Amino acid sequence: MKAEKTGLKVLFVASECAPWAKSGGLGDVVAALPKALEAEGVEVRTVLPLYGWIGRAGLEWKGGLEVECGYGGREGCGVWEGGEGKVWFLEHNVLYDRAGIYGDGHGEFGDQARRFGLLCAGAAELCRREGWIPDVVHTHDWPTAAMGGMLESWRRDGRGRGLEKTGSVLTIHNMAHQGWMELEEARWLGLRWETMTQEGFEAYGKLNLLKGGIAWSDAVTTVSPTYARECLGEPGGCGLSWLLGRRGSDFSGVLNGADYETWNPERDGRIAAGYGHNSLIGKGACKRDLQLRMGLAADDRVPVLGMVTRLAEQKGLGLLHEALPGLLAEGRVQLAVLGSGERWAEEWLGWLAREWPGRVGVQLGYSEDLAHQIYAGSDFFLMPSLFEPCGLSQLYAMRYGALPVVRATGGLEDTVEGYDARTGGGTGFKFAEASGAALRGAMDEAVGTWYERPTHVTMMRERGMARRFGWEGPAKEYLAIYERVAGRRR
Ligand code: ADP
Ligand code: GLC
Repeated sequence: MKAEKTGLKVLFVASECAPWAKSGGLGDVVAALPKALEAEGVEVRTVLPLYGWIGRAGLEWKGGLEVECGYGGREGCGVWEGGEGKVWFLEHNVLYDRAGIYGDGHGEFGDQARRFGLLCAGAAELCRREGWIPDVVHTHDWPTAAMGGMLESWRRDGRGRGLEKTGSVLTIHNMAHQGWMELEEARWLGLRWETMTQEGFEAYGKLNLLKGGIAWSDAVTTVSPTYARECLGEPGGCGLSWLLGRRGSDFSGVLNGADYETWNPERDGRIAAGYGHNSLIGKGACKRDLQLRMGLAADDRVPVLGMVTRLAEQKGLGLLHEALPGLLAEGRVQLAVLGSGERWAEEWLGWLAREWPGRVGVQLGYSEDLAHQIYAGSDFFLMPSLFEPCGLSQLYAMRYGALPVVRATGGLEDTVEGYDARTGGGTGFKFAEASGAALRGAMDEAVGTWYERPTHVTMMRERGMARRFGWEGPAKEYLAIYERVAGRRR
């Protein structure tokens, strides 16, 4: 049911939005949250860079756009429209037509302030041209965090041109990535000197985009209540806990949801057979299919531990490196991993697969199809993150009946209920200490339950599959934040 129109207009400005651009959960959130907000009566538009791999077929050309960048610079851009008229793509081939979102095989791009500064300024210019003036601009992570400071700078020196009353909300999906760069890169952003202090965008003689965003956005959120608390201390705050603390009630945690239209094992064209929590037969077929695809021995008695992940330190690869060899040597589990990222981790996983043929299957790279197949074909899902702002993978795993094995941190703490061996309660297996031994303990508990108390596994599975982490509640929380921010600016 559609809610009454609120009259609120919100502009999302982001570096990722599935299906066009996704490196992790950010892309999923920027795709799903606007739909949930529309259902609450909010009008949402999204602005994304037109990356080189995004096909222009299916998009509509909306003409050229001249964008003022920094003080006095000008860039000629193109504008394309897609996503049923709700997504605007900013075209600038020199800056966006590259092999990656943030970097390529040669490393991280060196002109991020220019690339994402243009995105923010271009988004504002586009709104003016379309006569669609947002009440709030909602930015995501360091790439677009500077927007709050840009809007304030424009307001102060009379360059707002219609956006004087537009407020800003910054959502932090990960404190560890802050957008550090040389101070002179600020020239691409047109920030006034007042915003460039040590309480703002400057940090230790460098430019820190996320820091400036925290200081100058009207409200700041992160993606789970527990992570919000962790960020208010160190090491969770990655050096910025003091600044977040200053924001008082303007900083809060809003739990992400999952988009169950995309993530639904009853209707998922990418998996071998459909199934639901009332009839798990199809899951057996998905497990066999996965074993075949990943070169694992076809055996339904052995539990498959799945992983779909960016191979980054955050994801607890160090703990796995300590804990997995011993577990694999016992011969009671299989492992199916899809991931890409840090070289050492890719090499180590490749070695593991060679060392344990039939027992470990690894695919390096990015594959939306295989991701769905792993959630569907696995019995357990490993996510031993050192920190996890929210985590969507464990939500998808639960929906697909793969019991998550997680470290009790951030959103994992908020969404997974630990196993109770007496009653069979819970939706997954949790451990607290960031050590290989603690992870091994949780994996042993999971595997032990599989072999010794299979009815508990079935009960937990059914419970996890029936649980919903929808977007409706979170969308209402964002709406309240937008109302507050817009109300202050009116
Ligand atoms: P993060 O955003 O930190 O990577 P999340 O759990 O929030 O973690 O989201 C990860 C998202 O990215 C999920 O949709 C997951 O399925 C997807 N994903 C991660 N790695 C891959 C990969 N190699 N191939 C396909 N999808 C992936
Ligand atoms: C980040 C976080 C992840 C979160 C995602 C979406 O990538 O690492 O925990 O789920 O953003 O908010």
